[in-house]
Amino acid sequence: MADNRIYIFDTTLRDGEQVPGCKLNTEQKVEIARELERLGVDVIEAGFPISSPGDFRSVVEIAKAVNEPVVCGLSRAVAKDIEVAADAVKNAKRPRIHTGIGTSESHIKFKLQTTPEKIIEKAVMAVKHAKRFVEDVEFYAEDAGRTDNEFLARVIEAVVAAGATVLNIPDTTGYCLPEEYGAKIRYLRENVKGIHKAILSTHCHNDLGLATANSIAGAQNGARQIECTINGIGERAGNTSLEEVVMIMKQHQHLNLVNQINTPLLNPISRLVSERMGMPVQPNKAIVGANAFAHSSGIHQDGVIKKRETYEIIDPLEVGVDHSKIVLTARSGRAAIAYRAKNIGHNLTKEELDVVYSGFLEIADRQKEVSDDDLSKLINSKLSSA
Ligand code: KIV
Ligand code: ZN
Repeated sequence: MADNRIYIFDTTLRDGEQVPGCKLNTEQKVEIARELERLGVDVIEAGFPISSPGDFRSVVEIAKAVNEPVVCGLSRAVAKDIEVAADAVKNAKRPRIHTGIGTSESHIKFKLQTTPEKIIEKAVMAVKHAKRFVEDVEFYAEDAGRTDNEFLARVIEAVVAAGATVLNIPDTTGYCLPEEYGAKIRYLRENVKGIHKAILSTHCHNDLGLATANSIAGAQNGARQIECTINGIGERAGNTSLEEVVMIMKQHQHLNLVNQINTPLLNPISRLVSERMGMPVQPNKAIVGANAFAHSSGIHQDGVIKKRETYEIIDPLEVGVDHSKIVLTARSGRAAIAYRAKNIGHNLTKEELDVVYSGFLEIADRQKEVSDDDLSKLINSKLSSA
C-alpha cells in the first residue's frame, strides 16, 4: 500500500452510538454499515460486544453483512471481553479486535488503581490473548493524549512486540493542541522499536473543538489511520468528523495524504445517520450542515453568482449537494434577486429590477427568508401595475 494512504476507521456505530439518547437497533446499524461500505471506509468499528446482548448481535450481523471493510469489535484488556469480541467478529471476511487500557497517570492511579508496570503486563496479555483469535489486533492506550510520552512509548513497544498490528493513540478527553498531538505521534514513530511493523492511528475527541485539527496533525506526523464518525457524533462534544478529515485531505493535496472515500455519498450518509439517530446536524456544520453551501449576504451572493469559487472552496457536487443556495433575506442585493428571478423564469431588466427590489426589501424585513413563491407573486404584482 502506498506510503501516503490514510485508512479511514469509522466508529459511528461504537463511539458515535455512545451519545446519550441515541440508540440504534440491529437493523438500523446494519443499514448504516452497508452505507459505510458504499462510502468506502476501510474499517467499521461495529460495537462493543460484551456491553450488551443487543450490541453483540449487531456486531455479528454487521460482520456478515459487509465484505470489503475490516469489521472491528471493541474490548477492554480483559480476557472475557476479548473472547466475546472474537466470537462477535468471527464471521467477518476481515475481522479485527480492538483492545486496550488506560495509560495516563489519572487512569492508572484513580480509575484502575494499579501501577504502570501492571498496565504494561495487562496490555501485553490482552494483545497476546486477542492474537489467539484474529491476526489483526488493534491496541488503544486510553487517554494517551495526557500520557507521559516516555511511558506511552514503553507501552507501545511492548504491545508491538506482542503482535499488535494497529496502535491507537486516543486523545480521549480532547485536551491536546495540534502541535502537541502531532509531536506525540512523531515521538512514538522515532522512539519505539519495531514501530514500522504496525500502523499508528489517531482517535481524537472534540472537547476543545480540535479533534479534526489534531487528527490531521497526527497524519502529518506519520499516523496512517484516522478514527472518526459521521457528523462528528460521539461522547460529550463528539469525535473527529469523517467528512471534515476526508475533505481536508482532498482540498489540501500538498499534504500528500490520500483516502478512498466516495465523497458524493458524504451528504446522503450524514442525513441517514442524523435521521436514524434522531440527532439533527447543526446548520453551520462544515461539509454537511444545511448552510454549508448557502449564501445570504449581498456581497457574498454577488461574488458567488459571478464565480462560485469566490466564496466556495468545495464544489457542492463533490460532497453530494446538488447546488449552492442563494438565500433571499433583507441582506440580499439586486444580483441575488435577479439570479433567483431568472431561475423561476423572469429575466428582469435593470428598471424592472429596481421596481421589484424596493418591494422585496419590505417583505424581507417582515420575514426571515423570501421564497420563490413570494418572489414570483411580488414580480407579478409589481410588473403588472407598472
Ligand atoms: O476515546 C477513547 O479513548 C476510546 C477508546 C476506547 C478507543 O474511545
Ligand atoms: Zn473515543
